[in-house]
Amino acid sequence: MRLAERVALITGAGSGIGEATARRFAREGARVAVNDAEASRAKRVAEGILADGGRAIAVEADVARAAEVDSAVRRVLEEWGRVDVLVNNAGITRDAMLAKMTEEQWDEVLAVNLKGAFLCARAVLPGMRERGWGRVVNTASVGALGNIGQANYAASKAGVIGLTRTLALEYARYGVTVNAVAPGATLTPMLAAVPDQVREKIVARIPAARLASPDEVAALHCFLASEEAGYITGQVIFIDGGLTVGI
Ligand SMILES: NC(=O)c1ccc[n+]([C@@H]2O[C@H](COP(=O)([O-])OP(=O)(O)OC[C@H]3O[C@@H](n4cnc5c(N)ncnc54)[C@H](O)[C@@H]3O)[C@@H](O)[C@H]2O)c1
Repeated sequence: MRLAERVALITGAGSGIGEATARRFAREGARVAVNDAEASRAKRVAEGILADGGRAIAVEADVARAAEVDSAVRRVLEEWGRVDVLVNNAGITRDAMLAKMTEEQWDEVLAVNLKGAFLCARAVLPGMRERGWGRVVNTASVGALGNIGQANYAASKAGVIGLTRTLALEYARYGVTVNAVAPGATLTPMLAAVPDQVREKIVARIPAARLASPDEVAALHCFLASEEAGYITGQVIFIDGGLTVGI
C-alpha cells in the first residue's frame, strides 16, 4: 500500500475527482479527511470509505474562508495528530465571456480555486516542515493555458501554478514536495453540466479521443503523494490525453 498510515486532507472530496482520490487514498492505507463545503457530500463519501473498511472522517469547510479551513485542520489534528498529505482539489467554475463576467463571478472563482489552496497550504505546511515530511498536490487545469469564457477560471488555475512553484521552493529543503496536477476534460459532475454538443466538441480535440476518468486523476494524486515521488517538486503534470502536446 502506497500511503499506509499517512493522514490525508482532500478538499472538495464530496464529488468527482476529489471523491475518487479519497477512495483511492483510503484503499492505499491512508486515513482520509474528506472535506467539502457541502456537509452531506463529505459525509456520504466518508461513510462509503468506512463501509469499505477504510478510515475516514468528514470535515465540512468552505476552503475560501480562513476560519473554516483552520477549524477543519484542527479537527483532523484532534483525530489523527497531523496532516501528511494535502490535496487542494476544491474548485468551481462561473463561466462567462469577459464583457458579461460579473465581479462576483470573478471573486467567487478566485476565492475558492486560488485563495482556498493558499489557505489550506498555510494551515498544514508548518506541521509538515516540523516533521520533515509532506506532500501538497494542487489542482490546476488545462484551462490555465487559456479558455474562452473562463477568464476567471484560467486566471485562478494559472495562479495555482505560480503558488505551486513558489511553495515548492520554500519547502523543498524540509522534505515537503508541492506539485500541481493539470487535468484535461474529466468525466465528473463539473463536466456533466456542460451541454452534450459542447462535450462532443471537446472530445473531438483530444488526441486520446476520450475524456479522463476521475480514477485516472486519482492515480496521479496517489503517486505524487507517495514516498516514491519524493524528488519531484514544483512540477505541473498535465493529465489530458495529449490535448496540450501540440499547442
Ligand atoms: N472535471 C474536469 O474536467 C476538470 C478539468 C480540469 C480541472 N478540474 C479541477 O479538478 C477539481 C475537481 O473538479 P471536479 O470536476 O471533480 O468537480 P466537482 O464539481 O465534481 O466537485 C467539486 C467539489 O468541490 C466542492 N466545493 C466547491 N466549492 C468548495 C469550497 N469552497 N470549499 C470546499 N469544497 C468546495 C463541491 O461541493 C464539490 O463536491 C477542481 O479544482 C477543478 O477545477 C476539473
